[in-house]
Amino acid sequence: MVLEFGLVGKRVLVTASSKGIGFAVAKAFLLNGSRVVISSSNGENVRRAVDSLASLGEVHGFTADLRSKNDIDGLIEYASSKLGGLDTLVYVAGSPSPGVFMEKTYEDWEEASRLLVLSATYTAKLVAQKMLSQGSGGSMIFLSSYVIKEPVPNLALSDVCRISVAGLVRTLARELGPWKIRVNGVMPGYIATQRVEQVLKDTAKRLNVSPQQALESLVKQIPLGYVGTPEELANVVLFLASSLSSYVTGAMIPVDGGLLNSVF
Ligand SMILES: NC(=O)c1ccc[n+]([C@@H]2O[C@H](COP(=O)([O-])OP(=O)(O)OC[C@H]3O[C@@H](n4cnc5c(N)ncnc54)[C@H](OP(=O)(O)O)[C@@H]3O)[C@@H](O)[C@H]2O)c1
Repeated sequence: MVLEFGLVGKRVLVTASSKGIGFAVAKAFLLNGSRVVISSSNGENVRRAVDSLASLGEVHGFTADLRSKNDIDGLIEYASSKLGGLDTLVYVAGSPSPGVFMEKTYEDWEEASRLLVLSATYTAKLVAQKMLSQGSGGSMIFLSSYVIKEPVPNLALSDVCRISVAGLVRTLARELGPWKIRVNGVMPGYIATQRVEQVLKDTAKRLNVSPQQALESLVKQIPLGYVGTPEELANVVLFLASSLSSYVTGAMIPVDGGLLNSVF
């Protein structure tokens, strides 16, 4: 049987995609014939990313800080009008600062909630409205983290806030399923981006070791023995957006080289 992916011509919005995982996801969709809008909070980074992707297909960029309701409003309107509608949302966010619970202030929690919780729910609502009005189904994929199953001591803001994405995925999968809008999530372990460099530097400082030693000790915990690539993560997102996953909704899929040790 020849596998049909159904990604050619798909209208895709990827948030927080000027770098790292979001950028790799946008690139993977373009390589598979989709039409893509990317965004991030920094206009110069967005322009650079669009320039480096432009030879691969139709890609547009918009500057939107996911902590701002107005920016999200603008982003969804822009993406939907540039692409003539939306078939797929890949929701990626920026990262909250590392650190343990007792270091974090009220303002840190407010900021992290805005970045990771409010932005996800509000983006989902606007995209769902578009998809429902189009009446042709759709797919949403939310990036969370493996920390929602096994909290990491030095990532208190992520440990607490990112679990809400799993609740959002289950809630939306149930409510939107009758309209053939599938909603799933991905839980990355460690994927080689600037974010992991930042986390390793912070861990190294706290443990009084070098970043290289922190990396070696991390890799020892990963059964596949290495930090994943953004492309390996993007492949799973493509699967969830494609017709190969037509009967998958409400799932949270770990992409972690086997790092998670829990059975469920
Ligand atoms: N890499 C991993 O191993 C890993 C594991 C689990 C979870 N995650 C999470 O996955 C997400 C992406 O991670 P990454 O590794 O790709 O990080 P990254 O390389 O640091 O990229 C982060 C992206 O988010 C954008 N961004 C930052 N703040 C933003 C904001 N307020 N509004 C809109 N866009 C914003 C950045 O662009 P600008 O600077 O141009 O705005 C950049 O494009 C993060 O939430 C991260 O915590 C990553």
